[in-house]
Amino acid sequence: MVDLVGTVAVAVWAMLPAYVPNNAAVLAGGGRPIDGGRIWGDSRLLGDGKTWRGTAVGTLVGVALAVALNALRPTAVDALGVPALPEFPPLAMGTLAFGAMLGDITASFLKRRTGRQRGAAFPVVDQLDFVVVALALTALAAPAWFGDTFTLSVLATVAVLTPALHLLTNGIAYALGVKDEPW
Ligand code: CTP
Ligand code: MG
Repeated sequence: MVDLVGTVAVAVWAMLPAYVPNNAAVLAGGGRPIDGGRIWGDSRLLGDGKTWRGTAVGTLVGVALAVALNALRPTAVDALGVPALPEFPPLAMGTLAFGAMLGDITASFLKRRTGRQRGAAFPVVDQLDFVVVALALTALAAPAWFGDTFTLSVLATVAVLTPALHLLTNGIAYALGVKDEPW
């Protein structure tokens, strides 16, 4: 039981810099779309939902959160009694935050290629795109830290928790009226 609590704590802690950027982008989004309005085939390359501002603010918020978590870590370890809570290396701060944004952008690219208009749901892809790219970039940029932090049990926890947290936070954003769809 203690192990399960510890594993969940590490999973949530380590993923927070990747979880928050997309929500920050929803709040900050707007302005020039990344694809500049370009069409590819029958539809937009990415669409108006992927903007420079949303991507930049999302990435910065994720990195700032990782910096804050590093500062809070000693207190959190004391309070939670979970000594394995990771400290983020600078490279991982960037790859977790930017990887999350890039995963979401990649999903929009795939949505447009498969005939899904802006805002259309793409089950499973919507819930996991950002995690896959954030973890892949982090594994490449900081392999030793990645291996120490994302053990198989932590990865399994992330795979289970992420869709649930994603649906929950987007549902809240939708209920608050800051997001157009609940996914
Ligand atoms: N957003 C942004 N830049 C990003 C990601 C999101 O500006 N890189 C903002 C946009 O205002 C977007 C909103 O966050 O409309 C919601 O994000 P998301 O659901 O990912 O975009 P959608 O508009 O639904 O478009 P898509 O179908 O391409 O996902
Ligand atoms: Mg959407």
